[in-house]
This record gives sequence, structure tokens and C-alpha cells, in this order.
Amino acid sequence: MSRADLVLAGCRQLLTCRGGAPKRKNELGDVGLVENAWLASHRGRIVYAGDERGFRDSVRPVPGAETVDCREFVVLPGFVDCHTHLPFAGSRAEEFLLRLQGWTYAQLAERGLGILTTVAATRAAGEEEILRLCLERLDHMLLNGATTVEAKSGYGLSLKDEIKQLEILKKAAGLHPVDIVPTFMGAHEVPPEYRDRRGEYIALLLDAILPEVRSRGLAEFFDVFCEEGVFSAEETRRMVRAAKAAGLQVKIHADEFTDLGGAALAAEEGARSAEHLLAVSEEGVRKLASSATAAVLLPGVPFFLRLDRRAPARALIDSGAVVALASDFNPGSSMVSSMLFVFQLGVFTLGMNVEEALNASTANAAYAAGREARAGRLEPGLQADALLCDIPHYAHLAYDLNRHPIRHVIKNGAFVVRDRRRV
Ligand code: NIG
Ligand code: FE
Repeated sequence: MSRADLVLAGCRQLLTCRGGAPKRKNELGDVGLVENAWLASHRGRIVYAGDERGFRDSVRPVPGAETVDCREFVVLPGFVDCHTHLPFAGSRAEEFLLRLQGWTYAQLAERGLGILTTVAATRAAGEEEILRLCLERLDHMLLNGATTVEAKSGYGLSLKDEIKQLEILKKAAGLHPVDIVPTFMGAHEVPPEYRDRRGEYIALLLDAILPEVRSRGLAEFFDVFCEEGVFSAEETRRMVRAAKAAGLQVKIHADEFTDLGGAALAAEEGARSAEHLLAVSEEGVRKLASSATAAVLLPGVPFFLRLDRRAPARALIDSGAVVALASDFNPGSSMVSSMLFVFQLGVFTLGMNVEEALNASTANAAYAAGREARAGRLEPGLQADALLCDIPHYAHLAYDLNRHPIRHVIKNGAFVVRDRRRV
């Protein structure tokens, strides 16, 4: 018999997303639905997910265990947001207005705006201020269903300021229930003071900042913006090899606006994920499909930038790639931090069905963040991170765009949102 200190009893529908991760092709369309289901956890870990009979046969609640009547709830795993640029200061609202007048993202970048506007604001801001912003943003993410969030540096672009961002993430992780997966992204852009000496900036990244990040244990992943005008495919390859040699896993911002072969490069280098992929080639799709590299799609970006382009979600899924969804929350190209909305964009703008978009926001997103052994599914042994939605059927998560469906959020077996409020 397993012991349990939390029991979700008689869930109208339980979406377990069981069967491991990553999920490909048809597996992506199966959310492991159990009706009238029971979920039990002990000390934050799931001990049981299944029907009532199995629960009665195998689980014994400890004295004082909390039992929640879930007959009115659809229960699913907490979302994993596997791509965010969480720690930044300042606003790009004025540049947003320029964009709406017709300036492109690239035209802003050429004039030293865009990412560099946020670099200046982030360098100028105090640690306390950025920490406060991070905690506030994490609250919003949690209310919209994310219980694990990957977060990148990359608005510091100097030894001091990259470390500052990563140290803030470490503090935030200690203060907030959402799990944070930290990524070092010093290769987000070449800072203005190195404009004409890009080789020296890469040397600084690899010879000074990377070892410091490693020795302080501040990041699990290394990420590069592989894009025309930012870092070339050749520079990207060199940097990711150095990062792997230093013991970090790799993510690549690949083929966002231009096809530089970033997806293929990510697959060849054994990256955990290739992200964006608005401009990915057919060869890139094929290489991802036959690799363990996740294709992380960020539908908030073309939405927020008002682009007609879409990542080829159907081709990626049908050819067998590991497809995940994430917000890319950042002040320039996606001021979107709601994973609920990102999941809905997956359905409405990427041709994914509801089940595929759910698995892509949970099980496969956990895989893309290197957290598949802990998060993204409701299976014994994993963290009890669950969303309790007062809707009649899981289809309403996308079908009913009018009412916020997430009523309670459970993180590691404890209520962190009750009645749509942070507790
Ligand atoms: O993922 N593409 C590069 N970086 C971010 C945008 C960052 C910014 O505009 O501040 C992205 O879209
Ligand atoms: Fe990004």
C-alpha cells in the first residue's frame, strides 16, 4: 500500500499524459484520459493516478490527509514553459508602437534598439528590482498554469550582468514555488561595446563568462541566437561545442527569421532543443524528425509580431519530430507569459489538435526543459503539479475562450492557487 497526504477524488476527467516523454506522431494525440479518476500524492510526489478501484486497492491516506472532491474538475499536469526570457527590466512599449507603424523587428535591431534596449535597462536596474519583477511574472505564469519555467539570461551580455541575471534566477527559485530551469544565453546578441570586435565577445563568452557560470553552478543549458546579423551557424557550432565540453546541455534559437541551417545544426550537435523554426527548411524538419532534439514552437512570436509565417507544426509532428510549445516570454517579440494562451495558439494557429497541444505544453515541454523525469505528466514518481479546471470537458480549455478555466493549481502536492488567486 502507498501512503498519501493529498487525494484528488473522482476527477471528472484526468489527463495523465502517461506513457513517458518525449512523445512523437500518434503518441502526441493521446492525453491518457481517465474518467472518474483518482490522483494521490505523498510529500509532493504522485503515488497513484487511475480509477477508484485501483486507488482503494493500493493507496492508504495518512491521518489528516486532504481529500478534494474533484467531480466538477478536469485535472491535468501543470504546464511547463520551456522557453522564456524571464529576468529583464524596462519596457519596449514605445518600440511596439513603432512596429505597429510598420517598423520590422530587424529594422529596430539595426538601429541598436530591440534586444539592446532591454540590455541597457537590465544593466541599469538593481538586483532587487529585477528580482521583484521576476517574482511578479512567475505569479502570472502560475495563475495561467505554468508550474515549471525555463528562464534565460541574455540581457546582460557582460560577465557582471550575465552573472547578475543568473544569480537573480537562483534567488527567485528559492522564493517562488514555480520550478526554474536556468539557461545561460550570453550569446543572445553582440553587445554595443563589442560591435566591431565580435570575435573578442565570443572569446569573453567562452573563456570568462562560461567558466564562471559553471563554477557557480548557475545554468543547466547554454543557448545561442543563430540568426542573420546575430550569430552565424559557424559561430554557433563553435560555441555549442565549447558549452558541451564545459558540461552544459544545449538549446538553439534556430531558423526564426532566416534559414541558417540552425535546426539541422541543433540535431547534429545533439542539442536538447531547436526553438522558433518559423523559417526551417525541409531538410531541417527531416533532421529533427530523426533526432532526439525537440522542436520547440513559439506561436506567441508570429502572433505578437503580426507575421503571417508559422512554424510547420503539422510537418514536424507527422514526420516524427518531438514537438513542444512555449511562450518565449520577452519584452520584444512575445509579451506573452500565459501557457494557457500559448496552448490555445497552438490549436488555433498551428493546426494542432487539442490533445497534441496539451502534450506539447506538458510532457514534451518537460522533455525540452530536461525535466521529463519530474514534471509534465501525472504518473507515479513524478511531482504532483496539477491544474484543477472547473470545465465540463477538457475540450473547453481551447473551445471556451471566454472564461479562465484554471481554478486551482497544485505544486509539489500543495495548493499554490486557490479560486484563481495566489496563496
Ligand atoms: O526569442 N530571438 C531572440 N530573442 C528573443 C527576443 C528577445 C527580444 O526581442 O528582446 C526571442 O524572440
Ligand atoms: Fe527566445
